[in-house]
Amino acid sequence: MGRVFNFSAGPAVLPVPVLEQARDEMLEYADSGMSVMEMSHRSKAYMAIIAKAEALLRELLHIPENYAVLLLQGGASLQFSMIPMNLLTDPAHQSVDYVVTGSWAEKAIEEARRQCADVRVAASTKAVNYARIPSQAELTCNPGAAYCHITSNNTIFGTEYHYTPETGAVPLVADISSNVLSRPMDIARFGLLYAGAQKNLGPSGVTVVIVRKDLLGRRSDLPHMLDYKIHADAGSMFNTPPTYAIYILGLVLQWTKDQGGVAAMEQRNVRKAAKLYAAIDGSSFYHCPTEPISRSRMNVPFTLADAGKDALFLAEAKKVGLVTLAGHRSVGGMRASLYNAMPEEGVDALIGFMAEFERVHG
Ligand SMILES: Cc1ncc(COP(=O)(O)O)c(C=O)c1O
Repeated sequence: MGRVFNFSAGPAVLPVPVLEQARDEMLEYADSGMSVMEMSHRSKAYMAIIAKAEALLRELLHIPENYAVLLLQGGASLQFSMIPMNLLTDPAHQSVDYVVTGSWAEKAIEEARRQCADVRVAASTKAVNYARIPSQAELTCNPGAAYCHITSNNTIFGTEYHYTPETGAVPLVADISSNVLSRPMDIARFGLLYAGAQKNLGPSGVTVVIVRKDLLGRRSDLPHMLDYKIHADAGSMFNTPPTYAIYILGLVLQWTKDQGGVAAMEQRNVRKAAKLYAAIDGSSFYHCPTEPISRSRMNVPFTLADAGKDALFLAEAKKVGLVTLAGHRSVGGMRASLYNAMPEEGVDALIGFMAEFERVHG
């Protein structure tokens, strides 16, 4: 089998030039005589790799100087706990806000409840099965909250914020795991942003945290490994970082820059998503459950008019090299993830296949 178009929600498709470069450098990186995997994280060669990855992230996302960039382990899921641990000074008496827009937001708030006595729901769209993002007017933010948490893109339900919530002096915290680098974001509007890498950033194993420096060091009683300030002071080298994942992250960032950066990615992502949604909306056989105003450019969920044909759809798609199109096990149906590394031809091939499937089986 040759390379397929992989619509996985994550770990997800990586740019071919990145994989090729990693292959070429597998046995020997630069003139080091060894693979990146075999290198001391304190070696000169590796220090240059991690420094370049951070510099590229800062450049691509326009991260201001007063923000620390941390490259951590534990996935986005560990951030669900580290955020309340680090941002609260008095968890028994402080309050935090969560906007609940899907399964990952539910998981984030569940972990917050283990760390904080007063966790409020600033808005939830559960009543409409998370088919949309609440508007600014629907957010009942608590001006006394220690922070307000949002999930910028809902990987499972396929919705995305197309605005940045205004939370006044309350730091806005965002899980940007599934739309980081897909569109410009004004970092200065946030107190903290975090993302597991395995969608637009690289392989699983490294988690990016971007945090305003004045939010560091609020607690002195945390285990060192769970303390942002410890990692910030150590330049993400408090312990052995996920060295190979960070190396691939650097290659993906360089590729993103070579493509024209985040603004160019956005243009391409808008085009890719628009044509897939148009194909779905233009058919009576396919249906998209999300409200147009909140639709994600990254994850496009859709159902077939006859759910009994789901297995056939997936099997036939696989035969023509279109894979990992099943919806998340919690929601069913289909989901096409269109991350940065999914070429436009992949989307065209999917649209063509869907039309043919409808013609034959619709
Ligand atoms: C939006 C979002 N948040 C959090 C996670 C959990 O990430 P991890 O598996 O890195 O803990 C995911 C995983 O897909 C996600 O899509």
